[in-house]
Amino acid sequence: VEGAWAEDGKGESIWDQYGHQGHVYKNQTADVACDSYHKTEYDVYLLRGLRPKIYKFSISWPRIFADGTKDSLNPQGVSYYNKLIDSLLDSNIEPMVTLFHWDLPQTLQDLGGWQNESIISAFAEYASFCFDTFGDRVKFWITFHEPWVISYAGYGTGQHPPGIVDPGIASYQVAHVILKAHALAWHVYNSHYRPKQHGKVGIVLNSDWAEPKNPRSVEDIRAAERYLNFMLGWFAHPIFVNGDYPDVLKSQIQHMNQQCSSQIAKLPTFTEEEKRLVNGTADFFGLSHYTSRLISASANHTCIPSYDNIGGFSPQVDPSWPQTAAPWIYVVPWGLRRLLQFVSKDYTGSRIPIYIAENGAPVDDGSDFINDTMRMDYYRLYINEVLKAVKLDAVDVQMYVARSLIDGFEGAAGYSQRFGLHHVNFDDANRQRTPKESAYFFSTVIENNGFPDKFLEEHLPKHVV
Ligand SMILES: *[C@@H]1O[C@H](CO)[C@@H](O)[C@H](O)[C@H]1NC(C)=O
Ligand SMILES: *[C@@H]1O[C@H](CO)[C@@H](O)[C@H](O)[C@H]1NC(C)=O
Ligand SMILES: *[C@@H]1O[C@H](CO)[C@@H](O)[C@H](O)[C@H]1NC(C)=O
Ligand SMILES: *[C@@H]1O[C@H](CO)[C@@H](O)[C@H](O)[C@H]1NC(C)=O
Repeated sequence: VEGAWAEDGKGESIWDQYGHQGHVYKNQTADVACDSYHKTEYDVYLLRGLRPKIYKFSISWPRIFADGTKDSLNPQGVSYYNKLIDSLLDSNIEPMVTLFHWDLPQTLQDLGGWQNESIISAFAEYASFCFDTFGDRVKFWITFHEPWVISYAGYGTGQHPPGIVDPGIASYQVAHVILKAHALAWHVYNSHYRPKQHGKVGIVLNSDWAEPKNPRSVEDIRAAERYLNFMLGWFAHPIFVNGDYPDVLKSQIQHMNQQCSSQIAKLPTFTEEEKRLVNGTADFFGLSHYTSRLISASANHTCIPSYDNIGGFSPQVDPSWPQTAAPWIYVVPWGLRRLLQFVSKDYTGSRIPIYIAENGAPVDDGSDFINDTMRMDYYRLYINEVLKAVKLDAVDVQMYVARSLIDGFEGAAGYSQRFGLHHVNFDDANRQRTPKESAYFFSTVIENNGFPDKFLEEHLPKHVV
């Protein structure tokens, strides 16, 4: 949303460059986006209208350290975030801050990005600076937003920068580096900042729900279990269980390499010391969720490395599931309840709270942008499934964050997918914002902490934000 891509000393990010190179829908770029860099007060005014308890946003690493290192500290970038944080707190809205939401400083990418282990200490230095500078006021920190997407789209399919297509090796390599960078940042906070700042540090992991296509087929049940482990367990198992990858992941990759004449995937290994470093490094489980898939086992083994081939699953959708403007998001509300049960059972139990850190659906450019009924239905149905998970299944969900306050630059889809509660006119130099029906709807959900109408007739417990 920020825009101001090269203003006031900000360095270039990999998404700036990717846009400039014409890799984004219709050659769009993040140069101006919603111009939120110049509209802090106005955006916080819109937020006040919704009366949320939390606002989740990310810091752009190259706005703070232009070339990624402390030597390139940019005081004007720091001032921008100070102003935003203070303005939120003045409005009684708690800031929840993500340190890395994909916009890596281009200079660090030029040194190998997440494929170069030396980025671990660079990330820890950046995280430490942020804790030191903003941590007196920020009590909720997210190290990484959706590392699966970074690995899968950045290094597997190449749809995101740096556009590397190497799903068997590079994907697993960068995931490994990111897990260690996350763990180091958590320890920096835990040892040096927690004693005086008393905040929480976690990570946001994305996952579909995976339903066996044929629930009576053992093969399909195992394939669905693999799907969840390749998407979520890949990151959640090391952090929340024992510092290491799930056995299902290790054995499947070993199995595929044995089936094929050459190695098609390589899962790095943690040393015993690294396992101890990674295990238990989250104060909450940030979950990002949108959709579900029906999973069957791959009919025949193929040795062409792809995410699905390596995992040995074949994801499908049910023809009855409604589609959205995002080709990958089908509306399957009950999938969220099942995913929450799974996360609670396998990773968090009663020890660690779950924060739903991203959920929502887009409309496309051409549709009636003010009367966004589809988005309201999506929120209503998904939030109702969260309610069931909390009330009927005793899952400890303590937060729900809707995507998003305003329409924004949606990565490779540019401005074509509109996730905002407020419409942004990207053709207008002033980037005019207009509330959609969903903004009024969501503000009543916040006001009632649940639903006022007969349709659901339920309220979330008081501790849920
Ligand atoms: C994107 O930009 C390139 C180079 O400037 C141009 O050749 C191409 O036609 C543009 N594509 C679109 C969809 O505008
Ligand atoms: C990895 O990053 C360091 C700087 O931290 C740099 O000196 C080194 O050349 C990089 N390695 C590669 C392969 O680019
Ligand atoms: C991982 O950490 C948890 C607590 O967070 C602990 O119960 C468990 O024993 C640890 N496992 C290993 C293998 O260290
Ligand atoms: C919004 O659209 C729905 C159906 O798509 C319609 O029933 C409703 O009356 C519309 N609301 C407004 C305010 O136009």
